[in-house]
Amino acid sequence: MPSLSRRHLMLAATGIVAASATSRLVFAQGTMAPTGPFKLDPLAYPINSLEPHIDAKTMEIHHDRHHQAFITNLNNFAKDNPQIAEKPVPEVLANLNSVPEAIRTGVRNSMGGHANHTMFWQIMGPNGGKPEGDVLAAIDRDLGGMEKLQTDFNAAGGRVFGSGWVFVTVGKDGKLAIETRPGQDNPMIDGKRALIGNDVWEHAYYLNYQNRRADYLKAWWNTVNWKAVSERYAAAKTGALGV
Ligand SMILES: [Fe+2]
Repeated sequence: MPSLSRRHLMLAATGIVAASATSRLVFAQGTMAPTGPFKLDPLAYPINSLEPHIDAKTMEIHHDRHHQAFITNLNNFAKDNPQIAEKPVPEVLANLNSVPEAIRTGVRNSMGGHANHTMFWQIMGPNGGKPEGDVLAAIDRDLGGMEKLQTDFNAAGGRVFGSGWVFVTVGKDGKLAIETRPGQDNPMIDGKRALIGNDVWEHAYYLNYQNRRADYLKAWWNTVNWKAVSERYAAAKTGALGV
């Protein structure tokens, strides 16, 4: 998104992104250098900047290893099936039946994971502000306001059995709804879009919260970047929202 790019450039100018990208490159070279069409974007903010709500070590492992693993898997699939990289991610996920059966489940999991995590990094950040404007009006209209959204979203996230995600989905008409998905499924599989989503896999919170998922769900709201969410909401209504 344009503003994220701008923020990224601003951070890069200060050396913050450059330094973190370098450490990631060292990791990548030492293990599984990405060679294919899928790439892991660096975070647009310092890796420790979501503390104390999400600790730097969790962020590092989550972004550099878990998300990277999805990228590596996708690049391996793309070696023999380059068509999965030739269409936009939402199009591939919305048409999984077109993906060869032998790799369909793998693409569903890894591309879903790539999409989910790309969105996740994008909607978080330090000093995220408050919801306002159109997106706040939609939250009031469709989800009963911020307090009810947080209560219902956290409850839904708490009910996810095992690993999965809790989302607020957005339609082209701007209508919002809370949904959960197992594994790395993304609402795009059903042709929908995620406005926001929280990762309730244990890897997202276990170092800091252990089994206390409810505490993580509650604290996570402090990391939401409402400017990015507003931009996603505007893009969703014009059909321009990517992942
Ligand atoms: Fe995750």
